Amino acid sequence: MKVQRFSKIGFIMAAAGSAVGLGNIWKFPYMTGEYGGGAFVLVYLVTIAFIGFSVMVAEMLIGALGRKDTVSCFEELASPKKKWWKYAGFMGFNGIIIMTFYSVVIGWILYYIFLIFSGLPQTTQEAKQIFNDLVSHQILAQIFFHTVSVIIVGYVVYRGIKGGIEKINLILMPALMIILFGLLLYAFSLDGFAKAFAFMFEPKWEKLNSEAFVRAVGHSFFTLSLGMGAIMTYAASLPKEASITKTAFIVTFMDTLIALVAGLVIFSFLFQFGAKPGQGPGLVFISLPTILHNFGTLGTFFALLFFLALAFAGLTSAVSLVEPVVQYLIDRFCMSRTKAVILISFIYWLIGIAALLSYTQAWGKVFSFFGKPLFDLLEYTTDSILLPLGGFAIVIFVGYVLQKERVKAHINRPGEMNDLFYKIWLFSIRYIAPVALIFMMLNLMGVIKL
Ligand code: PHE
Repeated sequence: MKVQRFSKIGFIMAAAGSAVGLGNIWKFPYMTGEYGGGAFVLVYLVTIAFIGFSVMVAEMLIGALGRKDTVSCFEELASPKKKWWKYAGFMGFNGIIIMTFYSVVIGWILYYIFLIFSGLPQTTQEAKQIFNDLVSHQILAQIFFHTVSVIIVGYVVYRGIKGGIEKINLILMPALMIILFGLLLYAFSLDGFAKAFAFMFEPKWEKLNSEAFVRAVGHSFFTLSLGMGAIMTYAASLPKEASITKTAFIVTFMDTLIALVAGLVIFSFLFQFGAKPGQGPGLVFISLPTILHNFGTLGTFFALLFFLALAFAGLTSAVSLVEPVVQYLIDRFCMSRTKAVILISFIYWLIGIAALLSYTQAWGKVFSFFGKPLFDLLEYTTDSILLPLGGFAIVIFVGYVLQKERVKAHINRPGEMNDLFYKIWLFSIRYIAPVALIFMMLNLMGVIKL
């Protein structure tokens, strides 16, 4: 089978496109708002620097050495006695679970892009009503826009690595960055900017409870697309001469920068008119549009740009959530790309409908389990359990199972890490990351409390 390879810049943009997503522009700001700002941001930044980056290098390495779908990568790289490691490759399926709710949120964003043309809400009350009405009553509209998102993503993945994924990222990623940095330039001129800056960078330790800590670590995996084989699958098509270390660094840097910029932009707008930061998932759907209303026509224009950027970020991540399983079906079951895309899209489309119904008034009870809507369960399970678990498998595999010489030959060669950095990285993979992840999981299970 002919293996398609990304170009160098195509790979960087695709990996960055995967990382930069709703996690950066929708989730990070509202989590920062909910967990009290600075301290949460600090835990997040420290985790990214000391764990996230190392895990990304490890995940890229598995893909670059294995050059196949996630299951085959683990299977081929493990020694003959340890072939059961292939089961770790099923982390690729996490992407489909994430897609069930991710696509619904992309649907909301698409809905909002249309909504903006009919004017922004004038009061928070009205904005709340619009969002709540959409989420709790508008079943057909939600299904429609969720379906549009499934079709766009399906089409890009069907076009493959070069003609679909690389292309969309080369166009949408620069567009997204231009929009966000443009909005940041404007935010600089607002009084709200200084408040936003203080809110995000002055740690208030008393707000950092154990839940905030777990969520910050979990989110650092989610935002870097780690622990589910997206980065691994892309790295299987890494151009031969590309440096893993450099690419991982650029991607981590871009992802973090964009999250911080998105946070600064949103909070500057909010604080300009005295809105509160802790609004939960509705933050960008409720508070932001209302606030932007105060800017008149310019506000409508900003809102349009903002939701376009959000849609771009979501779509480029979504394709990376679907590709691992599609690649798996192609490699292991000789399925055609078309068939694989249709099958997978249909599955998450269907569960996505159940997820969106779980928020509606009419069906909420039917689609709730353990007293929680299916939507929340899916999000919580992936973000706080499955991704860290996937990350744990990756670091144990690269740190202890893969032959050391092989790892060293790749990561410690010219163009990658020098001796010192290599040692630090290995230490992080073998000790820091696993211990932090175990700690986090124990915390999650309530065995220990911070
Ligand atoms: N990183 C993406 C975001 O921030 C989400 C994602 C997670 C994408 C895991 C791929 C894999 O929104």
